[in-house]
Amino acid sequence: MVRLVPCMRLIVAITGASGVIYGKRFLEALKEKNVETHLIISKAGEKMLQYELGVARKDLERLASHVYDEDLLTAPIASGSFITDGMAIIPCSMKTVAGIAHGYSENLILRAADVTLKEKRKLVIVPRETPLNAIHLRNLLELAMQGVAVIPAMPAFYHKPEKIEDLVDFIVGKVLDALGIEHNLFKRWSAPTAEEK
Ligand SMILES: Cc1cc2nc3c(=O)[nH]c(=O)nc-3n(C[C@H](O)[C@H](O)[C@H](O)COP(=O)(O)O)c2cc1C
Repeated sequence: MVRLVPCMRLIVAITGASGVIYGKRFLEALKEKNVETHLIISKAGEKMLQYELGVARKDLERLASHVYDEDLLTAPIASGSFITDGMAIIPCSMKTVAGIAHGYSENLILRAADVTLKEKRKLVIVPRETPLNAIHLRNLLELAMQGVAVIPAMPAFYHKPEKIEDLVDFIVGKVLDALGIEHNLFKRWSAPTAEEK
């Protein structure tokens, strides 16, 4: 059997915001691209998986190369000496946004994000909440100012989505763009032809 050498190593976290379908699709896309993934699903994220998708934590974990419990603060990814190409939190709850913005690393997701920032690696988050209060906005601004790619779960419609999967793929594609991973998850904008105008 031929084993491909992973082209990239990423930490992926799924938290308890609505929209765990984004995390599932993201993991599928990374597996297809042979990316080495280090996955943490928060306890709230696990409940959301069951509630929104009817998917058990174990089934999603099969898509990842390595998995960790959110309480395992001794995991390799808790240290900056473990080299990664970055981290994506998808979806990202406002609780986790607040924890990162304030350096409050009380679980492995928050610690890994803190490490990613201190090591100046790529951190991408997909926050989901509506409406946003001033605390959410202030915390998101703080993260943006620290160089975090903030990609809200805010799908576009100019690529003419026909089904939920098209909306999901748009956001997942944007996360892949931010991480520099090639994909064909959505049709990129190009000037409309005479017929389309
Ligand atoms: C049905 C339901 C939907 C939720 N949706 C969101 C959401 O979209 N965004 C959010 O920030 N929190 C949402 N929450 C709250 C989070 O699950 C909660 O703050 C949790 O503590 C987040 O923990 P975590 O970041 O460790 O996963 C929701 C909770 C429930 C029960």
